[in-house]
Amino acid sequence: MKKLIILSGAGMSAESGILTFRDMGGLWEQYNIEEVASPIAWQRDPQLVLDFYNQRRKQLMEVEPNEGHLALVKLEHKYDVQIITQNVDNLHERAGSSTVLHLHGELMKVRSENNESLVHEMDHWELMLGDKADDGHQLRPHIVWFGEAVPMIEVAIPLVQEADIIIIVGTSMQVYPAASLISYSKPDAQLYYIDPNADAFNYPNLKCINQKASKGLTELVKML
Ligand code: OAD
Repeated sequence: MKKLIILSGAGMSAESGILTFRDMGGLWEQYNIEEVASPIAWQRDPQLVLDFYNQRRKQLMEVEPNEGHLALVKLEHKYDVQIITQNVDNLHERAGSSTVLHLHGELMKVRSENNESLVHEMDHWELMLGDKADDGHQLRPHIVWFGEAVPMIEVAIPLVQEADIIIIVGTSMQVYPAASLISYSKPDAQLYYIDPNADAFNYPNLKCINQKASKGLTELVKML
């Protein structure tokens, strides 16, 4: 079976009703990254950080996977599929995809602020100050904040190096190291980029499909 990798970003979930970060009206227009998504923010005003992620978690529990997520599940009949996502939502999993690697963490998980491997699942949206991990330390969102390492990149690189087909979808390709993954692809890998602004990004042999995720993926999956 050929190996197929999906590299997804916020635009993948846009049609489910989740805001992207850098589009007009996106999250980083409404919030200051340093104030809600950094270790310094967590030290300075943890309640503000919790409020931000509680809102994201609450919204995630109210939305559903879209046609794009569902199209990707079908690929598993024909390909050895691995999804590598920058998204912290669980819409790929809820659609039925079986192999999802989260580069930037997961909204429905929280962890001890003292031990990053002590991770708990959330089944409700609200995380509060005073909610403790099993080690007695405050729980924090299981999210890679700005200024923090991206440990999963080490897992992602060899997967990309082996891929025969790579589909990039719904990411502005502005955040590193995620955006650098494409540079590890094999010279003969087939590369696709589905995004309403796909043309804005140049890469050798990249086939740009200037469409939203649901339409672009439904059509591409039929073709593949
Ligand atoms: P961005 O907000 O930077 O980019 C979203 C991309 O989605 C843009 O290229 C849009 O053109 C595209 N888009 C919008 N609607 C779409 C649709 N319906 N279908 C397909 N594409 C659409 O989001 P990311 O690239 O994912 O990190 O951002 C990367 C990281 O920056 C995020 O993981 C987050 C953020 O800060 C953390 O929070 C650690």
